[in-house]
Amino acid sequence: MSKLQAYIDERKELNLQELVELLKIPSVSTDPALAGDVSNCARRMGELMTEAGLETEIFETKGHPIVYGERLEAPGAPTVLVYGHYDVQPSDPDDQWDSPPFEPTEKDGYLYARGATDDKGQFYALIKGIQASREVNGKLPCNVKVLCEGEEEVGSPNLDPFIRKELDRLSCDIVFISDCSQFGIDMPAITYGLKGLCYLEVFVKGPSTDLHSGTFGGSVANPANVLTCLMAACQGPDGKIAIPGFYDDVRPLEDWERAMMAELPFDEEEFRKSVGAVKVFGEAGYTTLERKGARPTLDINGMISGFTGEGAKTVLPATASCKFSMRLVPDQDPDKIATLVSDFLNEMAPDTVEVEVRPHHGASPVIVSRDGTAVKAAEKALETGFGNRPVFVREGGSIPVVNTFQEALGAESLLVGLGLPDDNLHAPNEHFRIVDFHRGAVTMAAFLEEYGKGGD
Ligand code: BES
Ligand code: ZN
Repeated sequence: MSKLQAYIDERKELNLQELVELLKIPSVSTDPALAGDVSNCARRMGELMTEAGLETEIFETKGHPIVYGERLEAPGAPTVLVYGHYDVQPSDPDDQWDSPPFEPTEKDGYLYARGATDDKGQFYALIKGIQASREVNGKLPCNVKVLCEGEEEVGSPNLDPFIRKELDRLSCDIVFISDCSQFGIDMPAITYGLKGLCYLEVFVKGPSTDLHSGTFGGSVANPANVLTCLMAACQGPDGKIAIPGFYDDVRPLEDWERAMMAELPFDEEEFRKSVGAVKVFGEAGYTTLERKGARPTLDINGMISGFTGEGAKTVLPATASCKFSMRLVPDQDPDKIATLVSDFLNEMAPDTVEVEVRPHHGASPVIVSRDGTAVKAAEKALETGFGNRPVFVREGGSIPVVNTFQEALGAESLLVGLGLPDDNLHAPNEHFRIVDFHRGAVTMAAFLEEYGKGGD
């Protein structure tokens, strides 16, 4: 066993315990009532990064703090910027969790908690890898900078300006991110594409108050009826998005990509069962993997209108609203799509109601390089950490800052997911495979060593 492996093995319990403590902090970035916890989490993360050997600073922002650490002790060697986020999604619906979301619970080799995989667990594995590398080698083989934000789950509004202001501080040769997933158990992956996001909310306003549906039904438009018609008009039964111009900037999948995806060991029936759906469904003409990773989609995230309590209430609601989002692929632009969709809904809307479309956050889609010494080093490191060479995949999630790294820092990102596709991120019973937490640390340390040598 290598010295590195032995070092990480010895510290497994300790490392896991530190992660458990981080997971107890409900750092939900979208909930103003939890702002104190988000800030505490930043401070705790900062302390742990200091203990791991990084010189750490906390930067306050208009929103949640940014934690930054560095250790620059390898003159002539490349610089790696490690990025992650300590904020988490809300835990609701809480009653669907088998154990409380902020009381981390171990079961069958998995750790259950909000943020276990997304992203505290994955990010903290990298910190432990950096620490291991330094302690085993006496010093780090690469220069290391670490950037951990508290607003990823709300679209990173304050990170962009921070990066653009701190270009020197953050300059690097490569960004290393673990905030996505492996292809499957023991099947590590390097993600070379992430989708973008356009998130909108549409409000339909009808009569000034809820009305008796017998007395008034048929005499005024029902906002819920109108809203469902509008939303239904956005997508055809073949899964194609019916908004004119929506596909204009979509970069088609290339033949080699389709061939590569078709080669991946993906069992559609197993996938169907794992999500509990009656049948798989998506855009006609594409496979499930293509749809998931490389084709744009539209999903209603939530609808509010009328009576939803127990029993029946005959009411014609005064208002209806809907939150929906589109996942975008290169070269779609979230702002352009927002305008296109708002115009479409406004044009489709009947003059019997008032319709308003409001944008939420967005993110640009991104493709990162699959070549170069950093990618080669990551392939080797994953083999060291996980025992297998990685496959290359595109994923449907978004990490808004990856684009900023390309544009502002001129740096590519290495997207090395340590999670699994069915980790329940953003859902009840989120979990992280404990062995992969430790393997992630080994992978990070192995990457620094390999990349420090120059790759091949
Ligand atoms: N970790 C996810 C992104 C992700 C998920 C990448 C699955 C690949 C596979 C990240 O924390 C996330 O959830 N991002 C948000 C971004 C949004 C709020 C702009 C997302 O994708 O919904
Ligand atoms: Zn997330």
